[in-house]
Amino acid sequence: MQDPNSAEVDVTRVLVTGVRGKTGKPLAELLVARRGVEVRGGSSDPSTVGIEGVRPTAFSWDEPSGWAAATDGVDAIFVVRPDRADAPELIGALLAGTSPRTRVVLLSDKDGDYPDPDHPGCAGWAPRAERTVRDSGRPWTILRPGWFMQVFTDPRFYRDQIVDTGELPFPSGGATVAWIDARDIAAVAERALLEDGHTGRTYQISGPEALSLPRTAELLSAAAGRPVTHRDVTIDEAVAGSEGFARELSTLTFERVRAGSFAEVTDTVERVTGHPARTLRTFLSDAGPALRRVGR
Ligand SMILES: NC(=O)c1ccc[n+]([C@@H]2O[C@H](COP(=O)([O-])OP(=O)(O)OC[C@H]3O[C@@H](n4cnc5c(N)ncnc54)[C@H](OP(=O)(O)O)[C@@H]3O)[C@@H](O)[C@H]2O)c1
Repeated sequence: MQDPNSAEVDVTRVLVTGVRGKTGKPLAELLVARRGVEVRGGSSDPSTVGIEGVRPTAFSWDEPSGWAAATDGVDAIFVVRPDRADAPELIGALLAGTSPRTRVVLLSDKDGDYPDPDHPGCAGWAPRAERTVRDSGRPWTILRPGWFMQVFTDPRFYRDQIVDTGELPFPSGGATVAWIDARDIAAVAERALLEDGHTGRTYQISGPEALSLPRTAELLSAAAGRPVTHRDVTIDEAVAGSEGFARELSTLTFERVRAGSFAEVTDTVERVTGHPARTLRTFLSDAGPALRRVGR
């Protein structure tokens, strides 16, 4: 793969799956800013992909018949692991249809090899998804981030509760979380997709500090312009409304939060990108307006 900053006219083609998502979008924005990089933005609803310079590309885990067109001629793929039971098989089938030279960067999860004997519905699921990539025969890098700061501003997660009720219901059991800005995960992914030196690496990625949930709520309060209180709900309360695999995976994730699995602070972002990971305060000063009632 050529140096994307060189004067060469060669083009590096990258497929970003999940381009509407929390990591996919900032990654696509970084990639289009690089010279000589052509970005395909994969989404099940490509008509909603409005990132300047990105080629909207039909890509759905439910429609394998479209994968050949989405991956045709690509040099690298950013794979956002779909949180569904058949993710390992789907990822394996996707990669099997690509050229063996295709660089693969998988967005996995903190400690992707965590034991989960109490959850037969998702036992061995995360390790199998990672193993599929390692065994694919393609040059690979695996990203294992902790909880994203973007969950606070995403209406599919906590935004509406924060804005409408001033509450952050999160079953931490007193544990801390080293929240990571998805823009920093994207920056690590950008390097791994375009540069040599990351093949065969598994990166644990965290933000720069582990925060308690009450401290997190304090910072959210300042951004929201109103008091936000942390409520240490039970895990059952936190997963209410979900069922099946999604419920089991969320339950396991919160158990891991309570066990302190997301408290570890790593220097991966700075080591790989040369820039320190953003603090929650910095994230909120950029994204905080989404938490204000005014304008909604
Ligand atoms: N969230 C976290 O804190 C966290 C932490 C560690 C690891 N992870 C892992 O990272 C992966 C991605 O999780 P995520 O939570 O960050 O999901 P995400 O990438 O924000 O969204 C996942 C997908 O949902 C679809 N989608 C549906 N409605 C959407 C909307 N309104 N806006 C944007 N996308 C929408 C998009 O696919 P289409 O365009 O195809 O519909 C998108 O790619 C998962 O494997 C997860 O386990 C997440």
